[in-house]
Amino acid sequence: MRVSLEQAIAALKKGEVVAIPTETVYGLAADATNDAALKKIFSTKQRPADHPLIVHISDISQVVDWVTDFPEVAVKLAKAFWPGALTLVLPAKPHVSRVVRGDEPTVALRVPNHPLALALLKQGGLSVAAPSANLFTQLSPTTSAHVEAGLGEAIPVLDGGACNVGIESTIISVAADGQWQLLRPGMISEAEIAKVAGVSQRAKIISAEHHEIQTTPKVPGQHALHYSPRTPLSLYKDRQALLAACNALQNTNKSCAALLIGAGDVPDCNVINLPGQPEKVAEQLYSALHALDAMKVHRLLVELPPATAEWMAVLDRLTRAGHQ
Ligand code: TXA
Ligand code: MG
Repeated sequence: MRVSLEQAIAALKKGEVVAIPTETVYGLAADATNDAALKKIFSTKQRPADHPLIVHISDISQVVDWVTDFPEVAVKLAKAFWPGALTLVLPAKPHVSRVVRGDEPTVALRVPNHPLALALLKQGGLSVAAPSANLFTQLSPTTSAHVEAGLGEAIPVLDGGACNVGIESTIISVAADGQWQLLRPGMISEAEIAKVAGVSQRAKIISAEHHEIQTTPKVPGQHALHYSPRTPLSLYKDRQALLAACNALQNTNKSCAALLIGAGDVPDCNVINLPGQPEKVAEQLYSALHALDAMKVHRLLVELPPATAEWMAVLDRLTRAGHQ
């Protein structure tokens, strides 16, 4: 159900959930200071309660309302990248809802770079917790139609068009001593972070290539099975391997559809071609996966981009989608 900005603000103030656009993905928002409203996020998404939420604020001046420490490194990162696709995990003030924190001693904060999201936060005088507006483990939405397809027509949606970053924000935790760690790769790269924040001794990365999730630091809510279409999905390091797999499936009368990076075709197989630049692939990735899923074939075949730093965030999402 599409709602206006004013209706979205009114619903949030009444303790309802509303799907809102951000530049990364659509979020399922609720008033971050209202525990009853926050619990509706978890029930709507069917998400486990120990998964903390990101609090969306309208500008950097609000950070001090939420945290006990705002180290210089974090201030620099916020100034460099907000509004934008960067989430900062910082030591939480004791009053911050345990529902938002998932019982962690920290809270995740972000100023989104989307005019409607910012208008909602500013005009409403609101801070909203918002995970991606999809059922737990399923594909994130980058259009209002994706939200409605995943969560049903009854969900109020503020339509802000297609998200232009397309994958979830980069998450960086900054400890009180200023040491930082990458918790989730996103389109703001670790190299860009290091340029602003300096090199951190504690910097440790979630490995995109090996599907591995580092257990130290603790990254709650980062499941291997995440961002998945319903159709089984296989990943291929090169085009030839994908073509061979497609051929083998067809020989057993199984249908498939393929996602290719760059131009090209696969015989007797529906193909979505994404352009060969990381930013473009990120922007279109979830839409392409939603479209492939809707083809109702036996298996999706995905060509992986090269395992280089610029592709890290896209590789991370694809390896999670393929982890089944
Ligand atoms: O781009 C985004 O970040 C989108 C849009 C809507 O802003 N939101 C999003 O939220 O991706 P979600 O719930 O799908 O992912 C939030 C992740 C959690 O799974 C967890 O890994 C991390 O943020 N997180 C949140 N609070 C944390 C905390 N206190 N400590 C460590 N990680 C935290
Ligand atoms: Mg999510």
